Amino acid sequence: MVILKLPDEIEKLRISNLIVAQILSELRERVKPGVTTGELDGYCEELCRNKRVKPAFKGYRGYPFALCTSVNGEVVHGMPSERPLVAGDILSLDFGVNYKGFYGDAAITVPVGVVSAEAMRLLAVTEAGLYDAILQARAGNRLGDVSAAVQERVEAAGFSVVRDFVGHGIGRSLHEDPQIPNYGVRGRGIELKPGMVLAIEPMVNEGSYEVRVLPDGWTVVTRDGKLSAHFEHSVAITENGPEILSRIQ
Ligand code: CO
Repeated sequence: MVILKLPDEIEKLRISNLIVAQILSELRERVKPGVTTGELDGYCEELCRNKRVKPAFKGYRGYPFALCTSVNGEVVHGMPSERPLVAGDILSLDFGVNYKGFYGDAAITVPVGVVSAEAMRLLAVTEAGLYDAILQARAGNRLGDVSAAVQERVEAAGFSVVRDFVGHGIGRSLHEDPQIPNYGVRGRGIELKPGMVLAIEPMVNEGSYEVRVLPDGWTVVTRDGKLSAHFEHSVAITENGPEILSRIQ
């Protein structure tokens, strides 16, 4: 069941997502060769304490960290560690908070130092797919319009969209209906309505879309070992079109 939000609830989601955007922006500044993902997670926890917000992922189904840090062939849910980042890596930072009962959720993928032209193209195409999808997140459109927008952008560039993980509604729960695949058919699926809030999150692989979960039970990696990128925004559908709640200011 898709839960529609009232204006005062959207206002709370706006605040949670603004905090997520601010923290991601501060974390991004710290990404450089030699830094460990564990250090980024520690800094993230510190920022959460300063802002008096609860990191949403920590403890979620037993996940032990505030931040998901997925490097290179890691798709999502990579766990912070003591391994230093090296120039040429790409790093996805996925982060959520709960503030006054409402969740914020967003992700970015950033280059570490100078990366290959192909890696830069993967980041650009994935982010473009997210923005194409956001443009379709308007009342009267269908969920399939959002999903197809990502798929079309990604496949036209010769990359693939991950099938096994999807975006989601967001509100008083981190994951609400509807599920939002990054592939689909225009004109199909539920009709979008004002008051829906969607976390749209393309996960895009350089090679095949096949993934597997490592024995740690969390880290999702590409089966072929090639690169993967991930961008996510929480977006409210308003009478006046999509509003990106987690936009980095
Ligand atoms: Co999400």
